Amino acid sequence: QLGDEDVDIGELLMSPLWLEEANPALPLPPALYGPAPARRNSEGIDLAVEPMRAPLLAALETTAVPGIEAFDAAGAPKAVVASAAAFRRWRKTPVEARAAMLRQAADALQRELPRFCALLVKEAFKTWGDAVAEVREAVDFLRYYADEAERIMQPVALPGPTGESNELRLTARGPWVCISPWNFPLAIFTGQVAAALATGNTVLAKPAEQTPAIALEAVKLLHAAGVPADALQLLHGPGETVGAALVAAAGVAGVVFTGSTQVARIIHRALAAKDGPIVPLIAETGGINAMLVDSSALPEQVVDAVVQSAFRSAGQRCSALRLLVLHDGIADAVIEMIRGAAGELTAGDPALLSTDVGPVIDGEAADNIRRHLKRLDSEAKRLLAPASSSTGGNLIAPQAYEVPSIDSVTSEIFGPVLQIARWGQGDLSDPAEVIERINALGYGLTLGIQTRIDSRAQALATRAHVGNIYVNRNIIGAVVGVQPFGGEGLSGTGPKAGGPHYLYRFCAEQTVTVNT
Ligand code: NAD
Ligand code: ALA
Repeated sequence: QLGDEDVDIGELLMSPLWLEEANPALPLPPALYGPAPARRNSEGIDLAVEPMRAPLLAALETTAVPGIEAFDAAGAPKAVVASAAAFRRWRKTPVEARAAMLRQAADALQRELPRFCALLVKEAFKTWGDAVAEVREAVDFLRYYADEAERIMQPVALPGPTGESNELRLTARGPWVCISPWNFPLAIFTGQVAAALATGNTVLAKPAEQTPAIALEAVKLLHAAGVPADALQLLHGPGETVGAALVAAAGVAGVVFTGSTQVARIIHRALAAKDGPIVPLIAETGGINAMLVDSSALPEQVVDAVVQSAFRSAGQRCSALRLLVLHDGIADAVIEMIRGAAGELTAGDPALLSTDVGPVIDGEAADNIRRHLKRLDSEAKRLLAPASSSTGGNLIAPQAYEVPSIDSVTSEIFGPVLQIARWGQGDLSDPAEVIERINALGYGLTLGIQTRIDSRAQALATRAHVGNIYVNRNIIGAVVGVQPFGGEGLSGTGPKAGGPHYLYRFCAEQTVTVNT
């Protein structure tokens, strides 16, 4: 029914989680959030975006992306000293007051949805559908961590002998360095910062160099909501200089990083080499995410899930599908349907409401993907039309290849590139063995299982070393508080963002025993 009636933007912004909490009798609106398959009207416009068409396009006209100067990396130690001074005050601000500030920023972001969407389209080349979903995810992070901090930061009385009281408390750690990627420049940036602030830590935020304006606007909302400027400092600049200098500075109490596995290792080593206290690191990294399809799976469902998971957001999601493992019995039919469905996608200008696949983030990313395509052209069987050079620039149309085996996929290609392997014959006739081969790739972020045999889905899920498993659906768009998100192995350290255990990692624990 969406699109046929006037819908209040504020209401649309609410994700299923918050709609349900506001009114438990309300059924979850299936296509209002994240991964729901795009339903389109006769003009090819996503029906989740259609009711906001006028304000979104007006915002596109009026929203400018400001140029932003990089922070001088030599100033990192001083910034950490200022953060430590701010910490002495911020940690004493009651958790309820900190949570209220985050909720105020969430309300402001919700009101400013069109402007933030326009920024995401202009600076990060998000499609409108992805931009709306991302603003909503950022709003959810702010509200969820506000609620969670209030829940977990209450002292807990523990049992003890007569004449003794015992209490367990969570306390803030100090200045946190929050380093975020460009692919969710609002949601991940805001999530990290909100988690650290809610728990009483101060923040030195280093956003990706490709998306500084979005971070700046998000920080302005938090400052306007009452977070002191020295409790939340924004430090733009290249990771190799500004990011590295912040990680290395004395007095940093923790680092939360989302990005590539390679940079996570660099940060891990840098922290290990520091003198002084051992500094905790939360690293959320990439994945070679697979989907196992058996011969009982519904082909239409599989194809919809594959197209969403591999090509939406131009494949620039850490959760995106990289490796489809099809049972030999249905592989040919499913591959044919994927070719048809992928051919229907429109790759082009993200500012057009009808675009499904926008450009990748920059020339360096496009060159890197093209290098992989060149390699795959010689090692694998191409299944879709080549990424035409006429599309040029940073635009890469969806690509798919049949590869000889699961273990020939060795690295994350961060773009709309799907690799397909087969199972069901020879030494790979048991789905449990397929999962073992996927485990052996070393990553562990998302996994799809498509089967109509429930007991098989459960058994395979138990065997998989993976953080987020999706059965009979797509594997992207984890919802805050509904699908806590994060991986293991080469995909990260945990805890899961948007989950009930996340905030604990930002805190120290204190047990106070009093002889009464
Ligand atoms: P990246 O690792 O290149 O950069 C991430 C951030 O780290 C940026 O802010 C960058 O400036 C900074 N950085 C780079 N070198 C640094 C250094 N030496 N010291 C400190 N900071 C440094 O990643 P990217 O290209 O921005 O993002 C894409 C990657 O992120 C993909 O691998 C993707 O899978 C991953 N990712 C993971 C998740 C998750 O939740 N697991 C979410 C989104 C993206
Ligand atoms: N949280 C994002 C997703 O699940 C990365 O797609």
